[in-house]
Amino acid sequence: MLNALSLRRAAHFGDEGDEHQEDGSKTRKQLSIAMRVTNYLTRTGYLWPIILLAILIFVIASLFLHSRDLVCVSSISSFDRLSRTRFFGLDGLESDFGSLGVPWCRSKHGKTIEWTSKDLLQGLEEFVPIYETRPIKNNMYGMGFDHSFGLWFITRWLKPELMIESGAFKGHSTWVLRQAMPNTPIISLTPRHPSKYLMKGPAYVDHNCTYFAGKDFVDFGNVNWSTVMKKHGVTDLTRVLIFFDDHQNELKRLKQAHKAGFSHLVFEDNYDTGTGDHYSLRQICDQFYIQGGGHSCFKDSDEARQRSRRKNFWEKAVDIEGLCGPGEAWWGVKGYMRDDFNHTNKQISYTQHFENSRFVESVVDVYWEVPPVAGPSLTHQTRYDPARVSCPIVEDGRFGLFQRLGLSRLETSVFNGYTQMVYVEMSPKEM
Ligand SMILES: C[S@@+](CC[C@H](N)C(=O)[O-])C[C@H]1O[C@@H](n2cnc3c(N)ncnc32)[C@H](O)[C@@H]1O
Repeated sequence: MLNALSLRRAAHFGDEGDEHQEDGSKTRKQLSIAMRVTNYLTRTGYLWPIILLAILIFVIASLFLHSRDLVCVSSISSFDRLSRTRFFGLDGLESDFGSLGVPWCRSKHGKTIEWTSKDLLQGLEEFVPIYETRPIKNNMYGMGFDHSFGLWFITRWLKPELMIESGAFKGHSTWVLRQAMPNTPIISLTPRHPSKYLMKGPAYVDHNCTYFAGKDFVDFGNVNWSTVMKKHGVTDLTRVLIFFDDHQNELKRLKQAHKAGFSHLVFEDNYDTGTGDHYSLRQICDQFYIQGGGHSCFKDSDEARQRSRRKNFWEKAVDIEGLCGPGEAWWGVKGYMRDDFNHTNKQISYTQHFENSRFVESVVDVYWEVPPVAGPSLTHQTRYDPARVSCPIVEDGRFGLFQRLGLSRLETSVFNGYTQMVYVEMSPKEM
């Protein structure tokens, strides 16, 4: 039977060969091989399944390639992936930025920032050598690299007429503001004068800065701003930039700044829900209608499973137990609105939390979280969970760019302080 079939096929191909004998070209030979394959597949009935499979592979491949435009998918190299997998002994640890959602405060009129990722990259190239000259090399409890860059970039872009800082510590952020605007006056409100730290080690005291510090300290909410502005010759409050790094309830600070008529604010520690020592804008705007916002305390949910897995790898990741307080209260920190380094806190209802977000949204025109400068496979940061953070400026796997920007010269510890620094523009208060 087999022999008969082989003979019949041989005869068939022989006939074909005769038909096209005068050509005898290589192309013909290949064509006949292709035809043989096609014939074979048609006879065996595999042709259509194979065509469908090829189409499916093509569609999946193009979806994968284009998904980078839709969501931030890490471009971590397969080598990096493998080494991380080996290191942690588990898979699924790619720095998948934003996979658990990145809550944000909606802007009334859809206004956004003017700067682009190209501007950020150019800024980074310029800022790294400046940062290397910082007077306070080890700024534990103060800003690290990501936020120093964010503050410098925003300040330089906005070019304010006056800069106000609340919470100076040893003066690193004052120094950053000064690098951005060499000749612009600063007002710094901080309980302990930065010069006090000079006795123990490096600190920065600025010569064009009015300090409300030590015995002259006044809390931002108690300053008579119209008098101070007059004294500084400022008539247009939209030309003032305020930087808050004082660990106070950000709703309180936003209301105080709005009441005084200011528009441009930067908050250093914009903590994620379930973390931090004060109620932040990110926490306030974490609502069900925002992607990644609103949470369930149901232990058998996808979110609960993902969170508990991620907690093993990222120090600041929060699992459902960490997120939910009594009565399944997940907002703020376990249903609490924290204030003043968590020296005071207040339990709030979900309705109050929701109303807070309505207020914030009623005054906010622009809400922009400074992205992390680079992915964790480059910076080796281990604290923030990329799943709750927007795409970094330099994505994982782009070591060449990381190196060209000079970022590889910095110590790892400077990348460990990222807490979603945010720039907010408010509509001027109606007089
Ligand atoms: C995290 S540190 C600031 C770090 C600083 N911005 C830096 O980048 O190095 C917080 C500072 O806020 C100060 N502080 C505490 N209560 C404050 C308040 N009500 N107003 C302003 N500053 C306050 C603390 O004394 C401390 O110096």
